[in-house]
Amino acid sequence: MLRPFRDDDVEDLFAVMDTPQVRRSLHLPDHYGRENAWSQMAMFVGQWELRGTGNWALEDRGTGVFVGRAGLHLPEREGWPGLEIGWVLHPDHWGKGFATEAGVAAMRYAFEEVRIDGCLLDRVYSCILPDNSASQAVARRLGMELLEERVLPYFPLTPHGIWSRGR
Ligand SMILES: CC(C)(COP(=O)(O)OP(=O)(O)OC[C@H]1O[C@@H](n2cnc3c(N)ncnc32)[C@H](O)[C@@H]1OP(=O)(O)O)[C@@H](O)C(=O)NCCC(=O)NCCS
Repeated sequence: MLRPFRDDDVEDLFAVMDTPQVRRSLHLPDHYGRENAWSQMAMFVGQWELRGTGNWALEDRGTGVFVGRAGLHLPEREGWPGLEIGWVLHPDHWGKGFATEAGVAAMRYAFEEVRIDGCLLDRVYSCILPDNSASQAVARRLGMELLEERVLPYFPLTPHGIWSRGR
């Protein structure tokens, strides 16, 4: 289930973002920090309010367990290609198809519900580091293809793969 973040998700989101596997995949520093988890949640809640886009909290419908976050991302960021579909799951829940299921739902929402400057979208994107094969596999399952690799100014050390799919 994709649902809005709640204030009491902070501990669960922190637990996801602070796993060595997630930090390695996203090239995050050694310690992520609760403040960063809370700032990220608050940023997504604010992005929903301001732009009608953002990540949702991702829950296992059967157990109610917090699995991670997934959804849309349209930051004010130089060089960002457009509306991103993204996914970050706790490693305990990798290998179950949850990211693909959430990605399909997010992509459908992006194409059916989101309007930018009053217009429906022609394309969605995913910015994925070249060594993140698990995330590339999700993008492929969503029908995306690699358009190019380029350095995004906010992350100068490594180029990102820009994956995309048209409507
Ligand atoms: C990227 C990430 C979300 C991918 O997670 P994932 O579990 O591999 O992806 P999915 O949820 O789509 O699951 C697919 C896997 O589940 C398996 N699976 C099991 N049941 C399934 C089902 N019902 N439907 C689809 N796949 C299923 C698939 O076979 C596949 O396993 P495989 O890779 O061994 O072939 C995860 O690795 C992650 O959170 N990484 C860290 C954060 C990150 O890098 N985010 C992306 C930034 S760009």
